[in-house]
Amino acid sequence: MASDYDVIIIGAGAAGLMCAATAGYRGRKVLVVDHANKAGKKILMSGGGRCNFTNLNSTPANFLSDNPHFCISALKRYTPQDFLELVDRHGIEHEEKAAGQLFCKDSSKDILNLLLTECEWAGAEVRLKTSVNKISGVDHGYQLQTSSGTLTCESLVIACGGLSIPTMGATGFGYDVARQFGLSVLPTRAGLVPFTLHPELKEQLAPLSGVSCPVDVHCNNEHFREPMLFTHRGLSGPAMLQISSFWHPGDLIRINLLPSVSVCDRLHEHRKTKPQSHIRHFIEDFLPKRFAKAFCELQQWNKPFQYCRNEDLEAIADVLSHWEVRPAGTEGYKTAEVTLGGVDTRDLSSKTMSASNQPGLFFIGEVLDVTGHLGGHNFQWAWASGVAAGQHA
Ligand code: FDA
Repeated sequence: MASDYDVIIIGAGAAGLMCAATAGYRGRKVLVVDHANKAGKKILMSGGGRCNFTNLNSTPANFLSDNPHFCISALKRYTPQDFLELVDRHGIEHEEKAAGQLFCKDSSKDILNLLLTECEWAGAEVRLKTSVNKISGVDHGYQLQTSSGTLTCESLVIACGGLSIPTMGATGFGYDVARQFGLSVLPTRAGLVPFTLHPELKEQLAPLSGVSCPVDVHCNNEHFREPMLFTHRGLSGPAMLQISSFWHPGDLIRINLLPSVSVCDRLHEHRKTKPQSHIRHFIEDFLPKRFAKAFCELQQWNKPFQYCRNEDLEAIADVLSHWEVRPAGTEGYKTAEVTLGGVDTRDLSSKTMSASNQPGLFFIGEVLDVTGHLGGHNFQWAWASGVAAGQHA
């Protein structure tokens, strides 16, 4: 008996819609189902409403995975330049914010509209408010019991993302499907997520809420030189989000608060030229006044320079260059931009994204154990893995 569809994709997010258009243009009869009432909710909320849709400098080195070579093939075959050409073809205005990070000039809606238009042109159908209750393998394909009836397909693509932001429709459904068909799922945790602090430090840093400063943060042999933001809940900003993907509970993070300054030399110089000034004044030369005041109170640095011995200056330099913080935890999936871990890529073909042991079953996007750094890499993975599966499903 012929299937209802050649390809059914579960998840109308970035990866699912990209896959649908690609398969549709090949002449495949495609249906995308999603339980949400709107497609691409994460696209809409991404990049502060202006979607950082790719990163021109994206390479496999920007991704974390237990199987780091897996992502290379798909990323090579569909590059940031390819997606940029699509964006340009749709006349979407964009701008490069930080190095390589491309954002919509107007709104994230432009990227979602691009994907929905491409699906329409490719003849792919998108059905929302449809939940999938059961999946069974049948002869030459799959049967889905959904809230809109039973559907059959030759190829089934799982594009239902990770666990981050459950209020936006995130579920562990993709992991359940993987397990059902004998694929391994690696432990998951929240990534690109703000840190929370232990009560005492949280209280001490509370006056700094809203202050941002450029830092170099280190943890587990990784480091990022980006701005850090103090919030009323803890530490955030690009530097903290980036390093959070490398942090494990109990780890210390080491923050260089003055990464562009030779701190010890400058402190000695300052003692010579302005002996009556305080450490606070030295810090104010580089960082916001509010930060300088609160940080000196935290460290109890209250002597004028003229009373600081060489050892004191060395100790101060050490703290400014290696401030050690042991976060209490992270804000978790509630606010995390991504989910680390997920479907083990060792069970998939890196060329087609299909399960090695299960013909016609594909996994793409964030549900896989491939997680990008902050800065447009995660969408680039969604596009590249979506295209790879769309060419073969
Ligand atoms: P995605 O999560 O986009 O889509 C999954 C879809 O599956 C959803 O529509 C969901 O409703 C559906 N679904 C889930 N379970 C289902 C079920 N059981 N049945 C049916 N449907 C189901 N990345 C980046 O590169 N640049 C950026 O600017 C940002 N900004 C950003 C901001 C915020 C606040 C967040 C949370 C995330 C980002 N990201 C980002 C990350 C990026 O959004 C993410 O990596 C991609 O959306 C992943 O695309 P997927 O298609 O894999 O999943």
